[in-house]
Amino acid sequence: QAEDGYRLWLRYEPVGAELKTDYVAAATQLVPGGDSATIRAASDEFARGLSSMLGSAPAIAPRVSRDGAILYGTPATSPAIAALKLPLSNLGKEGFLIRSVPVNGHRATVIAANEDVGVLYGVFHLLERMERHEPIAALDIAEKPKLNLRLLNHWDNLDGHVERGYSGESIWDWFTLPEWKKPRYTDYARADASIGINGTVLNNVNASPDILQTRYLEKVATLADIFRPYGIKVYLSANFGSPVALKELDTADPLDPRVQQWWQAKADEIYRLIPDFGGFLVKANSEGQPGPQDYHRSHAEGANMLAAALKPHHGIVMWRAFVYSAEDDTDRARQAYAEFKPLDGKFADNVVVQVKNGPIDFQPREPFHPLFGAMPETPLMMEVQITKEYLGFNTHLAYLGTMWAEALDAYTGYPAPDNSVAGVLEDGKGTGLTGMAGVANVGSDRNWSGSEFDQANWYAFGRFAWNPSADPEAIARDWTRMTWGNDPKLVETVTAMMMRSREAVVDYMTPLGLTHQMATGHHHGPGPWISDLARPEWNPAYYNRADSNGIGFDRSESGTDAVADYAPEVGRQVNSITTTPEMFLLWFHHLPWDYKLRSGDTLWDGLVKSYDRGVDAVAGLQRDWASLKPLIDTQRFDEETAFLAIQHKDAKWWRDASIAYFQSKSNRPLPAGHAEPP
Ligand code: GCU
Repeated sequence: QAEDGYRLWLRYEPVGAELKTDYVAAATQLVPGGDSATIRAASDEFARGLSSMLGSAPAIAPRVSRDGAILYGTPATSPAIAALKLPLSNLGKEGFLIRSVPVNGHRATVIAANEDVGVLYGVFHLLERMERHEPIAALDIAEKPKLNLRLLNHWDNLDGHVERGYSGESIWDWFTLPEWKKPRYTDYARADASIGINGTVLNNVNASPDILQTRYLEKVATLADIFRPYGIKVYLSANFGSPVALKELDTADPLDPRVQQWWQAKADEIYRLIPDFGGFLVKANSEGQPGPQDYHRSHAEGANMLAAALKPHHGIVMWRAFVYSAEDDTDRARQAYAEFKPLDGKFADNVVVQVKNGPIDFQPREPFHPLFGAMPETPLMMEVQITKEYLGFNTHLAYLGTMWAEALDAYTGYPAPDNSVAGVLEDGKGTGLTGMAGVANVGSDRNWSGSEFDQANWYAFGRFAWNPSADPEAIARDWTRMTWGNDPKLVETVTAMMMRSREAVVDYMTPLGLTHQMATGHHHGPGPWISDLARPEWNPAYYNRADSNGIGFDRSESGTDAVADYAPEVGRQVNSITTTPEMFLLWFHHLPWDYKLRSGDTLWDGLVKSYDRGVDAVAGLQRDWASLKPLIDTQRFDEETAFLAIQHKDAKWWRDASIAYFQSKSNRPLPAGHAEPP
C-alpha cells in the first residue's frame, strides 16, 4: 500500500507479536448494544481497526459469552450495560466510560455512554490507545468534552476553490452531489469523530448566497445524512445580504418584517430537509461583506433577527467578531472590541460570538483577543486557523498546538469562573454555547491537509476543542505515535521537532512581537517594506513602523491605547515596556534600535539574531528528520525532506529580506556572528 497519508492518524498499523497476544486476548468478541447507524459505524470501525492491527477482527456476538469481550452501548439499548449501573450521569450527551469489568462472569471491556455518539467516541478512544501501543487490560477511563461546539469551518467556495486552502480543491463536490456520495465524505466524518469534532460549516465565511438555494440545500442535506451517524451536524455560512443578492427582496434590513419572514421561511425550508441542521455562521460588515450596519442596525440586531428564525428549530447563530472597516482609522487591533463590547448582553440566547484567538488575524504570534473576558453576559467561542495562511502554507512544519495553548492558557485578568481564556470559553453563560471553531485545512489532496505534519494540526484542533486545557506536547506525542510509529527514538524526535517548530516560524517571520509582515494577497513571503496599499492596515510597514529611530507599534497609553482594552492588571503589564513579555514587545511598543533587551543585546542585534535563530532552527529540523530515515517509509520521508528544504529556503528568504529592509532604517552594522547572505 502506498504511504500516501490518506489514512491520517487512523492508520491501524499491524502490532508486533507480543502486544498482539495481549490485544487479541482483550478483543475476542464484539458485543454491540443496539443497532443504530452510529453503533453500526462503531462496529465498522472496530472491524477496520482490529483486523488491520491484529490480522483479524473478532466476531459480533449478541451477548458476552467469553473472556475478552468488548461490550459497547448505552443503558437504553443494552440491558447488559444497564445492569452494570455505571456512573454515567455526569458524562452528558457526548462523554463516555471505558472500564475493564467482569460481565456474565467473563473478563470484558465496557464502553458505555448516555448516547450512541459517546459510544462511538469511546470506540475511537480504545482503538487509538491500541495504535499507540498502550495497555488496554485494566482500564478505568471517563471522558467528556469541556466545550459543546467543536466545529470545523471550511472556507470552501461553491466553485471548488478553497480560500486560504493549500491542500487541493474543496472536498465537497457540489457538481456530483446529491447523487454521488463519495466514500471520502464518510472517511472525513470518521476522522472528525475520532477527535470529537461534532459540527462542520461547509462553506466559506465570504459566503455565496447561492448556498441557500434549494438545489444546494438538497446537496447539503445529503452530506448531513452521511455525517449524522458520526455525531456531526452541518452548519452553513450565511451571507447577510442573501434576500437581496438572490433578488427576492430589495432590502436585507433586519428590522424589516419582510426580511424577518424571508429568513424564517428559509429556516423552515432548511429544517424540512435537515431536521438537525446546526445553524448559521455569519461574517457581517467586515472586509466588504454585507451586514446590519448597512441599514444602521447593530451586530446584535442582525444576529438576533437570524437567531429568531432559527430558534423554533433549535438552531444557533455564530456571529463573527472579526470586523474591521474601511471607513474606520482606529487601530485595527481595537476595532472588534470597540464594536462588540458595548453589545454585551444584547444578543439572543441562541447566539454565540465567534472571536479569533488574537486581535488582528491569525498571525504567527499575537496576544490573546481582548474580548475574551470582557463580555461577561455573552457566550464567546474561539476561532483558530488550522490552515496555515500566515505560517508557511502546507510546506512549512509548524505545529499549532503550542500556539493555541498559548492563547488558551493566557491570563485574562478577569475574575471567576477562571481567569484564563480557556475558562472564558468553558462558560456558556447558561446557554450551553461553548465552543471552538477551526478554519479547516482539509482539501482534496490524497493526504487531506497538503502535508503529513499539517494533519497534526487538524488532529490537535479536535483535542483542544474537546479540552482547551490539554497539553500540546501530549497531543503531539499521541499524533506522532499514530501517524509515524511507536519507535521510541522516532516518537521523541518528532515530538520535539513539533514542539519547537512554531517558535522557529515566529523567529524567521515576525520576531519580538512584529506582526503582519507578509507580502500582499498570498501572505507567504516577506513584505515588511510594503506601504502603498489603499488601506493603512493592509501595509506591513504600517505595522512595523520602522524608521531611523526604531521599530514597533505603540499600543500603549502614549500610542493607540489598545492596552486599555485588556483588564486593568493585564493592560498595566503590557503598557509598561519593562513588564511586557519580550515576545510581544514590538506589538505594544515602538522602541529605539539601541533599546537593551533582557539578553543584553540591543534591539537591533536581538532582532537580527532572532531571524538567524529561526533559520538555524529549520536546519535543526532538517537534521533531526534526516536521522529518522531508517524508521520511516520512503514516500512520506522523501516528501517531508523536500518540504523542509523548501522551508529552509523560505526561512532564509524571510531573514535576508527582513534584515535588509530593517537595516536600511536602522543604519546599523550586522552583529558579529551573523552569516552574511551570499
Ligand atoms: C483573513 C483572510 C481572509 C478571510 C478573513 C476572515 O483576513 O486573509 O481570506 O476571509 O481572514 O477571517 O474573514
